[in-house]
Amino acid sequence: MAPQKIIIDTDPGQDDAIAILLALASPEELEVLAITTVAGNVPLDKTSRNARVICELAGKTDIPVHEGCDRPMQRTLVTAEYVHGKTGLDGADLPEPKMPVASLSAVEAIIHHIRREPPGSVTLCPLGPLTNIATAFSQAPDIVERLAGIVLMGGAYFEVGNTTPAAEFNIYVDPEAAEIVIKSGIDITILSLDVTHKALITQPWLDRIVALDTPVTRVATGWLNFYERYDVEKYGGAGGPLHDPCVIAYLLRPDLFSGRRINVEIETQSDLTRGMTVADWWGVTDRPPNALFIGDVDSDGFFDLLAERLARL
Ligand code: RIB
Ligand code: CA
Repeated sequence: MAPQKIIIDTDPGQDDAIAILLALASPEELEVLAITTVAGNVPLDKTSRNARVICELAGKTDIPVHEGCDRPMQRTLVTAEYVHGKTGLDGADLPEPKMPVASLSAVEAIIHHIRREPPGSVTLCPLGPLTNIATAFSQAPDIVERLAGIVLMGGAYFEVGNTTPAAEFNIYVDPEAAEIVIKSGIDITILSLDVTHKALITQPWLDRIVALDTPVTRVATGWLNFYERYDVEKYGGAGGPLHDPCVIAYLLRPDLFSGRRINVEIETQSDLTRGMTVADWWGVTDRPPNALFIGDVDSDGFFDLLAERLARL
């Protein structure tokens, strides 16, 4: 079977980095057409640098990295250095990237690839705020029906918010963009906090990655040790949640995940609940289902997959 063609839209971020490494380690299943960067965890100049650092670490400098929107569609940018550190990839010291940013902007590249590839062959994988995606949909509405679908990390229902009491970070940063995407009618799969909070890094797993002792895994464990401290202190759990790799793992092994097709709407009007994903998990409204909302994962299977693929790089 030919590999799935994907575009990874990202705001690296250590968890984004692991997701990108997982995708780049899986060329038989995934063809990464492009990586597009967006402002989110850290400002755009840093997410664009970080995306290239990750590609160079993986030895995949042929993957074009396109720079995207440096702020949300209507709001002021909110970043998350308190989680990811000032660089966005704190935890490992890596040289400045040599590979250049690609000439097309992220929005131009998203439009270009979707128009060029056969209809129904490209899947968008947003790992950060949805600004680039929504901007591309607004500039080129014809691309929506050409997509195979969107598999994104964002939102929450049972887990409620990680940025405010009501909202998850990616949706909170640009709720208007999320609303455009959710209302586009595209086939969307949402890997929310409900599932990513079940993909918790454990020390035995980290020890397993350390034991691989490769240039990639040495850097990855440095990133993860730095990254998880925030959530462990906040939630007091066993380990930090690996949010974004769930998107790529879903593409590779959807059997590891489960969820429901439900209606999801985005709060954009209220300051109190801005960016809340109002997920009708219990079907109490007559609003039509518009997303596959993933709520559970086989965590052992997920981490086995991740370890096996990271060892390949
Ligand atoms: O809320 C978690 C999400 O926000 C992840 O994608 C993380 O990288 C940040 O972008
Ligand atoms: Ca992210």
